[in-house]
Amino acid sequence: MIDAKPLAVVTGASSGIGAAYARALAARGYDLVLVARRQERLQQLADDLSSGFRGACTVLRADLTDPAELLKVEELLAGAPNLDLLVNNAGFGTLGRFCDGPVESQDAMHRLHVLAILRLTHAAVRNLMTRGQGAVVNVSSVAAFAPLPGSTSYYATKAWINCFTEGLYLELKCAGSRVRVQALCPGFTLTEFHDVLGLDCKAILGASWWMAAEDVVEASLRGLEKGKLFVVPGLRYKLLVGLLRLLPRPVLHFALTKGAASLQRDRRPMMRA
Ligand SMILES: NC(=O)c1ccc[n+]([C@@H]2O[C@H](COP(=O)([O-])OP(=O)(O)OC[C@H]3O[C@@H](n4cnc5c(N)ncnc54)[C@H](OP(=O)(O)O)[C@@H]3O)[C@@H](O)[C@H]2O)c1
Repeated sequence: MIDAKPLAVVTGASSGIGAAYARALAARGYDLVLVARRQERLQQLADDLSSGFRGACTVLRADLTDPAELLKVEELLAGAPNLDLLVNNAGFGTLGRFCDGPVESQDAMHRLHVLAILRLTHAAVRNLMTRGQGAVVNVSSVAAFAPLPGSTSYYATKAWINCFTEGLYLELKCAGSRVRVQALCPGFTLTEFHDVLGLDCKAILGASWWMAAEDVVEASLRGLEKGKLFVVPGLRYKLLVGLLRLLPRPVLHFALTKGAASLQRDRRPMMRA
């Protein structure tokens, strides 16, 4: 009998960091299930990967803010006998102050960044624990450490991802399980994230701040091998996060309100990573 290959399920695989995970994992010999809403984009990637690598690559179209579509992915995770890795990567940003816009996009963000991650991780970890192996990566952000005005829901949901992943990490440790979890906290990364918001990446920040999605993913997968809980890719962002964690809250608040005010003065849209 031929042994099944380990299976990785990647959400938000139709572009950016998710597509980079798919390529890196296919090259490492995983079978893949690619999840997102844009089916043609997923199918194109699956076709490319299937011709370049020997693993099986399946497409699962799902809007993860929709409970019925989310359930399809939960069922897949709960029932896959060769499940080895879940990457909860799907996400998006919004622009502007919390109270200025309609609540629907904030609601959708919480369903995608919080509820979908909660339910998919629950399904995956229960399955992985029965075999005592495998991992879940939750894609967070350096924004989890910096509540920049204009990013309230984004900051809050990414901070939740960090707290949730840390709590789960400790539970798994206490249970003596070899199942690993990681919160990946990238800084600014060149993907479609800022295009979706109508932002010109080069105009909002110097080129040296931008990372390639492939480098972010390599840092995540290296971190996974070492069992690291928080992975912050890039030295510059490691230093920034170290500083943000050290600053007394009043100092952090002063710096962030000044920063947000100067962004508004420059008439540049508020930014988030
Ligand atoms: N780029 C950055 O600077 C940066 C920095 C820190 C953290 N991050 C995080 O990295 C993750 C990936 O973002 P990215 O930068 O790669 O942006 P991206 O290129 O815009 O990719 C976002 C992915 O999420 C999927 N998605 C969005 N809404 C969805 C929904 N309702 N259901 C299912 N899939 C959905 C999109 O696919 P469909 O549109 O096809 O559904 C797409 O594949 C996000 O969690 C983001 O917060 C990004």
